[in-house]
This record gives sequence, C-alpha cells and structure tokens, in this order.
Amino acid sequence: MNVHETQGPEAAEAEVQIRTGQLRLHRAEDFEGMRRAGRLVAELLDMLAPLVKPGVLTDDLDRLAYEFTMDHGAVPACLFYRGYGRTTCISVNHVVCHGVPGGRSNLVLREGDIANIDATVKLDGWHGDSSRMYPVGQVAPRAQRLLDITHECLTRGVAAVKPGARFSDIGQAIQSYAHAHRCSVVEDFCGHGIGRLFHDAPSVLHYDASASREPGARSQANIEMRPGMFFTIEPMINLGRKEVKVLNDGWTAVTRDKSLSAQYEHSVGVTEDGVEVFTYSPAGLDKPGSRP
Ligand code: MF3
Ligand code: CO
Ligand code: CO
Repeated sequence: MNVHETQGPEAAEAEVQIRTGQLRLHRAEDFEGMRRAGRLVAELLDMLAPLVKPGVLTDDLDRLAYEFTMDHGAVPACLFYRGYGRTTCISVNHVVCHGVPGGRSNLVLREGDIANIDATVKLDGWHGDSSRMYPVGQVAPRAQRLLDITHECLTRGVAAVKPGARFSDIGQAIQSYAHAHRCSVVEDFCGHGIGRLFHDAPSVLHYDASASREPGARSQANIEMRPGMFFTIEPMINLGRKEVKVLNDGWTAVTRDKSLSAQYEHSVGVTEDGVEVFTYSPAGLDKPGSRP
C-alpha cells in the first residue's frame, strides 16, 4: 500500500483510530473468516508455483489466478481497486511492487528473473493478502541472496508481533536485518490493517519510524498491538538504494537505481499470546527456492 494514500470513505474513521491507538479488534469468528481467506490466497500462490517458468506470459498467470479465485467462491480484491484492472500484481527484478501483468515490458518471464506475485482474495467478506517471490529457472546467486534476506525480514517482522509490542518493533526487526546485510528497506509502500476492509488502519511501516520526523509515521509506529488486530507485513527490500519511482502507467513502482527488489507478504492476526499467520502455504512453499 502507498504510504501517502488516504483510505476512501473510511479515512476519517481510520484517522481517529490511529490518533487514539484504538484499532479495530476482531473476535474468534472473525479469525475463522481470515483463516479461510488466507488459506485460499495461499493455495492460489501454490497453484501458480509450478507454472512460473521461462517463457510464461504474465497475463496467463493472472488469468489463472482470476479463474482460481472465482472457482473458489471468492472475488479478486485488486480487480477494479482504484482503477486497477488485474487480479494480481507481478513485479519482476527491479520492479518493487504493483507490476501490471501483461503490461508493456512485463509480458513474459525469462530465465533468471525473480518475480513477485501478489494476490488478494475476498472470501465471505474477509480479505486474504499475500505475496511470494518466484525464481524463474536458475537465478544468479545475488538474486537468491536477496530472496533469502527478504524472506528472513518477513519472518522477523512476524516474530515481533504479540500483545503489548509496538508496530515500530516490526519495522526495527526488518530494518536491522536488512541493513546488517547491506540491503535497503523501501519506505514509500507499507503493510496495512486488513479484514473486512482490504486496506485499513494502521500503515505498517517496514522501517524504524520511532524517530521519524513525520509525526504520522511516528504515531502509527507507536501503537501497541492487542489481540484481535489484523494486518499485513510486506517488506520490500532492495539490493541497492531505497528510493523508488512510479512509472507512467500510474502503478509500476521501480527502484530508481534499477537495483533488484524483492517482497514477501503475509496477513496476520494478533492472538492472546502472539501471532497467527493466515497465509502460510499449505504445500510448504513459503521459503525462497522451495520447488513444488
Ligand atoms: N496486494 C497489494 C497489497 O499488498 C495491493 C495491490 S493494489 C493493486 O496491498 F491495486 F495494485 F492491486
Ligand atoms: Co497488502
Ligand atoms: Co498484497
């Protein structure tokens, strides 16, 4: 999610929630809804794994994702979201996020590419949002290294989730690991509250915003986690510098220095004693390089 975006009709409510730290708290049956939506999007990402090969058209992957979603009684949350026209985002190599399947210069996957596929399904009113990296054929060691580091960043971000922790703990965990490995953390896009809404408060920043000069970023980072909060963690990590720019299509975000970028995303809920990840792969394909 873009850190600067307002949140539609719910914007005012979200702002109050952020100011008071009172984020929406969900009940046991809401966890059930998120489990089903999370499992479905994870199955969708599993289904695509064996199909991501050199020569495959990104548009074909997107159409399969659309059909899979509809066949399972869900709807693609990205389709028609702010004018977006696809089920998935497919972001290849130096594309940070929001790569448009079938878009000019994003038609076909080639040997050595690293591709992020991001999908969000809405099932019985609940959103499951997840993304993974897919190596296309054999990838270079530095690309594989970036996937490993980025996945570890997500794992550490998730591990920072428990009642009483602050959202800044997530950003700190991710940033310190990325920097220790000479990578940068994208600041222009963030995770987000999720549930019945696709993008809810708060913005989940992946960098350490506890000392940010921006009061908005600081106050969101300061919010304390409580059982029943649902949100995504979706760090974008670059081999080079953190700066990004959005191309003329209004969606595709790329690294300014054209360095490789990777991203993994889970939807999670805060439990009484820790965290529940709703979007783990039923086929065990979460980790980089796991082959179906
Ligand atoms: N799934 C993305 C996220 O993690 C959102 C994509 S919005 C779209 O928040 F419109 F580009 F699809
Ligand atoms: Co998301
Ligand atoms: Co997503």
